[in-house]
Amino acid sequence: MQQKLNRSTVIIYSSARKNGNTSAHVNSFAEQNDVRVVCLDDYKIPPYCYNKNYKNDDFYQLFESLLNYDHWVFASPVYWYNTTIQMKAFIDRITDYMDDEHLKPRLRLLRSKDFSLLSNASSIEAPEVFVQMFKQTFNYLGMSFVSHQHKKTQSAV
Ligand SMILES: Cc1cc2nc3c(=O)[nH]c(=O)nc-3n(C[C@H](O)[C@H](O)[C@H](O)COP(=O)(O)O)c2cc1C
Repeated sequence: MQQKLNRSTVIIYSSARKNGNTSAHVNSFAEQNDVRVVCLDDYKIPPYCYNKNYKNDDFYQLFESLLNYDHWVFASPVYWYNTTIQMKAFIDRITDYMDDEHLKPRLRLLRSKDFSLLSNASSIEAPEVFVQMFKQTFNYLGMSFVSHQHKKTQSAV
């Protein structure tokens, strides 16, 4: 993903620390490209709930603002072969758009969008299960995969 991006792009990231490896990866990507950066940890995203009784919830407003971008770049550390709790909450909450007939057309807008992945971990490569979680989820939602960039980092602890 060294090339300049020609679609409007937003980086959507999360990490258990503000100035850690994920944030460094995001900053270096953002320096090379004209992108908006969204840190999910700055938003209140309660876990998915079947009864939709969300209090102090930023999810819907955040998701609607992300629909303005054509290319979503997810950035995440690998935590035990998975992503962060906040990123997982964000992904789960997309289900709210599938549950609601009025919101479904909004979700279909994803079908014209692309996604990429920035990952970092102690391992040389991102675990396949981690990569597949993103690929299969966003492919299912109709988005097209563009690229994946992984960085091996120093141990976090
Ligand atoms: C809770 C936790 C779980 C981790 N699990 C893995 C793992 O399964 N595989 C791996 O290669 N690295 C693992 N790591 C290392 C991190 O992925 C790595 O240090 C990453 O760069 C941390 O990014 P951050 O500074 O944004 O948190 C883990 C680190 C933590 C804190």
